[in-house]
Amino acid sequence: MAAEPGHDAVEVIGAKRDGRELSDAQIDWVVDGYTRGAVADEQMAAMAMAITLNGMSRREIARWTAAMIASGERMDFSSLSRPTADKHSTGGVGDKITLPLAPLVAACGVAVPQLSGRGLGHTGGTLDKLESIPGWRAALSNEEVLAQLESVGAVVCAAGDGLAPADKKLYALRDVTGTVPSIPLIASSIMSKKIAEGTGALVLDVKVGTGAFMTTVDEARELATTMVALGQDAGVTTVALLTDMSTPLGLTAGNAVEVQESLDVLAGGGPADVVELTLALAREMLAGAGRDDVDPADRLADGSAMDVWRAMICAQGGDPSAALPTARETQVVVAPASGTLTRLDALAVGLASWRLGAGRARKEDVVQAGAGIVWHARPGDAVQEGEPLFTLHTDEPERFGRALEALEGGYDVGDGSAYTPAPLLIERVG
Ligand code: URA
Repeated sequence: MAAEPGHDAVEVIGAKRDGRELSDAQIDWVVDGYTRGAVADEQMAAMAMAITLNGMSRREIARWTAAMIASGERMDFSSLSRPTADKHSTGGVGDKITLPLAPLVAACGVAVPQLSGRGLGHTGGTLDKLESIPGWRAALSNEEVLAQLESVGAVVCAAGDGLAPADKKLYALRDVTGTVPSIPLIASSIMSKKIAEGTGALVLDVKVGTGAFMTTVDEARELATTMVALGQDAGVTTVALLTDMSTPLGLTAGNAVEVQESLDVLAGGGPADVVELTLALAREMLAGAGRDDVDPADRLADGSAMDVWRAMICAQGGDPSAALPTARETQVVVAPASGTLTRLDALAVGLASWRLGAGRARKEDVVQAGAGIVWHARPGDAVQEGEPLFTLHTDEPERFGRALEALEGGYDVGDGSAYTPAPLLIERVG
């Protein structure tokens, strides 16, 4: 691609390749040029790799984020009658928390504009889960988002094409060039979308462990600190919780199976870890929005969060009373011995669920609504030899073999005497 007056992509790439800081003008030009097509994919791929290998200073990350925000529109919720708060998870296995959380926070008087994505790889996508509800639609116009936030208080929908288009293009490129795991690129990608979305307060759930991008607390802390600073600098009240993702959340991973588990939570039951994380994130969102006078546990108990859920699903064409789809085939895996389940690996479970058809390998793949995996014990629980430990669900029985391979070595049953539970909430940054 030809050089443009005053700038040359090869020179900018070379600066980062050689470990130099990019100037504000260089960053603005390269992000804008890539969005318009003046910087070619292969040039941006080299740039992304140089950033992945050599990193960026805080100033560069802030400028890169601002340039990605400036590539598109910004939403404005200032006309709403209540404050707004959003949550973003860096992605994990069995992470259905948005589903009970958005209506719960709305039931406490804070509007939740949750613009979400689809799953890629072994972590599930919130929209894929919700699309298992008959009739529910993910695509809303900006006007519909605003109207639903005012009338219902919560929206979970697809982020429109107008928000941070530079990130959309860059994320797709990073996905196929081995440049996803880079703290500057992840932080700017997530925060450009969240700042452009226009939320007043933001809580980041930064996952740590085998099933997450960040496998160590140190890396997760650095990502969290970077994102919190970007949010605060942009005027968004931002905090982060580092939470465990070495074990999958709850008892289900997949689409409809996770919706059902979320309904259990909204009905006042559900697995203890899902309830604990939902309440912890809700409290942070309410505090960020200035409503820490409300206890979200009361709104789960009195059914008002479930009422908002039903209104939220109806507003997007879904039937909250319809039966959820189930997979055509199931296969049970039994416990190999009696004792205590001492380990359940998030990555193994995520891969198994993905291979059963709950996730996609390429953006154009169609996911199965009924596919997924249910485990019948959590680490620390007693299990009996020969009793069901997992139930695998899929429409295509030929998928069972590869899913079973993913689970192999992904769990341990022992005598449990040395077992100590890992804390779910690891650290707060903000
Ligand atoms: N999620 C995003 O939106 N961007 C990343 O870079 C990683 C996770």
